Amino acid sequence: MLKKYILTPGPTAISEDVLIEHGRPLIHHRSPEFGNIFAEVLEKLKKLYRTKNDVFVLTSSGTGAMEAAVANSFKKGDRVLVASSGKFGERFKEISEEFGLEVIHLDYEWGSAVNPEDIRERLEDDNKIRAVMVPFSETSTGVINDIESIGDIVKDYPAILIVDAITGLVTTDLETDKWHLDIVIGGSQKGLSAPTGIAFISVSDKAWKLIDQSDLPKYYFDLKAARKAMQKNPPQTPWTPGISIIVAMNRALDILFEEGMERAFERHRAMANASWAGAEALGLELLVAEPGSRGFSTTAIRVPESIDGKELVKIMRVKYGVTITGGQGKLAGKIIRIGHIGYVGMFDIIIAFSALEMVLSDLGFKFEVGAAVSAVQKAFMNNNYFNI
Ligand SMILES: Cc1ncc(COP(=O)(O)O)c(C=O)c1O
Repeated sequence: MLKKYILTPGPTAISEDVLIEHGRPLIHHRSPEFGNIFAEVLEKLKKLYRTKNDVFVLTSSGTGAMEAAVANSFKKGDRVLVASSGKFGERFKEISEEFGLEVIHLDYEWGSAVNPEDIRERLEDDNKIRAVMVPFSETSTGVINDIESIGDIVKDYPAILIVDAITGLVTTDLETDKWHLDIVIGGSQKGLSAPTGIAFISVSDKAWKLIDQSDLPKYYFDLKAARKAMQKNPPQTPWTPGISIIVAMNRALDILFEEGMERAFERHRAMANASWAGAEALGLELLVAEPGSRGFSTTAIRVPESIDGKELVKIMRVKYGVTITGGQGKLAGKIIRIGHIGYVGMFDIIIAFSALEMVLSDLGFKFEVGAAVSAVQKAFMNNNYFNI
């Protein structure tokens, strides 16, 4: 028997409480019982999003909500601005191109953040830009983008702001209304640590104006159909939703509010800080050089030149039972990513770095055994978050 641990930036480990809810006997999605649970989930999502806007629940992974944002908001040939520095930001570009949009791509080096002033410049030069799309937490690199500043800029232009907050929500403060975010996308399997398969998407009045004029093809992800179903009492979804996932999410949201959102942000920050300390103690470089651009969901670490990152990840999973992730796209083999998002505590990070040390040792990397584990422990011991 090899005990297994999942420390990826999603899907995340799921707590026993949430798993029990997920395993409850199925209820019908048109029953009042489900309707009441769904109504609760929608209210709790609004609280998580800090918004008065409607938040819709789609049965898909996060990418489905990214597609819904594009398919619903535009007309064929519309011009959009995608600002990105990683794989998930590029996904906005790919989806937009697939739907026949004209994409202006502000493409930054992977590992650095988007510069809000570049967005201002583009919007100032071009009043035909219908939307700005940007990831909040770019999970392929561990970068966090300054969405508050971007929101402050975009609000003064006709364009709407579409934010992929799939790993940003729950890990970092996000203020949908205060920051003027028109469409914000999340996913069940990330910070909430619920099962995979549900995406959420909030829509502002400014975004509805575009949605009402959209002529792009859509059916399953039609937000007008979702709005019509949600206006029923109790609210519904147009098609059969992931019933058990929504039931599990209801518990996951309660757990989040029992902890308190501010505490949850602090916890993610504590996990991230300890992980950065662990990497640095091994003499390994963090991909995100600028400390202010490091997000709290994922730590991306450059692997030494002599080591194949893919091999490292594989040994860690197969020999030690610890699943982390490698690099994506052009960073494949060059970095590893430790996820500390959702249902993660101090000892998970210690496990991750303990296993990392053992694999590095297997691969012949020279370092003082215990250095990372000790640095992680000290980071936790010195962190006020854990004071009781
Ligand atoms: C920032 C970000 N955007 C989009 C996605 C894609 O989400 P999904 O795999 O749920 O479709 C992910 C998944 O890791 C992500 O982290």
